[in-house]
Formats: sequence, C-alpha cells, structure tokens
Amino acid sequence: MAVERTLSIIKPDAVAKNVIGDIISRFEKAGLCVIAARMAHLSQSEAEQFYAVHRERPFFGELVGFMTSGPVLVQVLEGEDAIARNREIMGATNPKEAAPGTIRADFAETIDANAVHGSDAPETAAQEIGFFFSDEQICPRG
Ligand code: PPS
Repeated sequence: MAVERTLSIIKPDAVAKNVIGDIISRFEKAGLCVIAARMAHLSQSEAEQFYAVHRERPFFGELVGFMTSGPVLVQVLEGEDAIARNREIMGATNPKEAAPGTIRADFAETIDANAVHGSDAPETAAQEIGFFFSDEQICPRG
C-alpha cells in the first residue's frame, strides 16, 4: 500500500470538549503519524474558501458558521493508505450512523458538529494540505 498524506481537522466542538489528545491518539494507534499541526481560528473567508466545493449545498452557511465558531487543530497525517484509513477511523459523517469505536461515534453528537474533517481523495488531500501548510512546515518522519 502507498504511503499517503491527508489533511485532518479537529473541529470546534471537539476542541471545546478538550479531546484533542484522545483523537490524535486514535490516529497514532492506527499507524498514522502527525507530520504538521497548528491551532487556527478560521475567518469567514477562509472557511468559505476551504469548503467552496459545498457552496451550493443547503447547509453551506451552517457549515461555515460552525467552522468559524471556535478554534480548530489542523494537521497533516502520514501513513500507509492514510486517506482511507483516516476516514475509516473518523466514521460516518452523521455520528448517529457512525460505527461503534469511531471518532464520530465516540466524540460527536450531530451532523453539523461532527468532531473531525478528513480529506476524501488524493487530489483534495494535496489541495487541502496546501491550503493550510507550506512545504517548510511539514516534517516527514523520513
Ligand atoms: S463527506 O464526508 O464530505 O462525504 O460528507 P458530505 O455529506 O459531503 O458533507 C460535506 C461536509 O459538510 C458537513 N455537513 C453538514 N454541515 C452542517 N449541516 C449539515 N446538515 C451537514 N451535512 C454535512 C459534513 O460534516 C462535511 O464536513 P467535513 O468538514 O468535510 O467533514
């Protein structure tokens, strides 16, 4: 399997619950490494840009409002099959449908405040990583 990178965001609800460490621990236990990380409080314009692909969806305003409501942790995860593995650990978008033991099942309550974001494909991962991090800010484990 190929070693990949993916963008992960620990969203405002999970930061407010003080479970950043618990969530990162799930990634590390699944063999993913944090190779870049920082806290950020997204502006309206940053969130609108980041989620531009969803601009026409009915929940766009709510999504942007939620993602700007408090600080987030943005990070780059690296590992074998990292994009799919991350999404597997995250669980379904709607926490009520998320498999037991996934991050969203354990740390999220609603579809609009669902604890984590993860890139969904190699192209989006590259784009999303570039949105938050320059090459110099990424520290591969070698
Ligand atoms: S996914 O995971 O991208 O396939 O899911 P999708 O359904 O396409 O949702 C895209 C992002 O929108 C968020 N979302 C919502 N926010 C607010 N209200 C409602 N109803 C809602 N439905 C979906 C969802 O959490 C996804 O955010 P990210 O940050 O990409 O996970």
